[in-house]
Amino acid sequence: MAYQLLKGKKGIISGALDEQSIAWHVALRCHEEGAALTLTNAPIALRMGKINELARQVNAEVIPADATSIEDLQKLFARAKELHGGGVDFVLHSIGMSPNVRKNKPYTDLNYEFYLKTLDISAASFHKMIQTAYQLDAINEWGSIVGLSYIAAQRVFPNYNDMADAKALLESITRSWGYHYGIRKKVRVNTVSQSPTPTTAGSGVSGFDVFYRYAEMMSPLGNATAGDCANYCVLLFSDLSRKVTMQNLFHDGGYSFVGVSEKLMELFTKP
Ligand SMILES: NC(=O)c1ccc[n+]([C@@H]2O[C@H](COP(=O)([O-])OP(=O)(O)OC[C@H]3O[C@@H](n4cnc5c(N)ncnc54)[C@H](O)[C@@H]3O)[C@@H](O)[C@H]2O)c1
Repeated sequence: MAYQLLKGKKGIISGALDEQSIAWHVALRCHEEGAALTLTNAPIALRMGKINELARQVNAEVIPADATSIEDLQKLFARAKELHGGGVDFVLHSIGMSPNVRKNKPYTDLNYEFYLKTLDISAASFHKMIQTAYQLDAINEWGSIVGLSYIAAQRVFPNYNDMADAKALLESITRSWGYHYGIRKKVRVNTVSQSPTPTTAGSGVSGFDVFYRYAEMMSPLGNATAGDCANYCVLLFSDLSRKVTMQNLFHDGGYSFVGVSEKLMELFTKP
């Protein structure tokens, strides 16, 4: 159901690779809610993914930008300002990648060049994106910035590897920028800590199927899907969440606050 919650708003959405991407769902929902959009992704993802298909569906221009490159980010925000005739009202950071995970390097034997890349792509890029927008004054007053996180920032999930460190950094950047951007322009910054979701990035973590099913059993409401996440992002981009900032918001069907579920206990009580 659409409520026109984002009517008249303009936004930038990063990270839509294919129909499974969380960002893909967010873009479709924002479009349904009346927002004018600009899409962005890394140049390689533009060649390999399906973002142009999404762009047609939501009537958006796609601007290539490697989120670790300040130059690319400056071009992104400058072009978005041109396209939208001024600043945007919301930005989604939906970007994550770990070369250590990709190359099966365990946490106990990390490659440190890869490690720096993980932190740069998955966390520092959030800082870079926000700092670029801040310096170019590219986000309107009462704007909203959302990044996507995972509960491995708080608790150990061994196979999540160095992405756990990246998510902890992402959440810290969220608090710091929430303060600075809030003071200057009432722009809010939050992360959504999402359930395991079957996407290219998600499924790249070894054992993903197991912790997907485990989370499903532990969550009283079941895992939140990419579509559910899109609904929550719409709320955070809308004027209905104006005073929510600097938060890591669990969006996980209750998983984060359950110690053990009866469903899981049943598994261990079977003879
Ligand atoms: N899938 C899950 O289980 C899950 C759970 C919680 C949080 N998240 C987070 O959600 C976000 C989106 O991931 P997803 O699950 O939709 O997977 P996805 O693979 O569809 O999206 C990841 C995106 O990051 C982009 N990217 C990688 N390097 C980049 C760079 N240098 N510059 C710009 N973009 C770059 C990719 O092109 C891709 O579009 C990530 O931050 C991920 O960590 C995912």
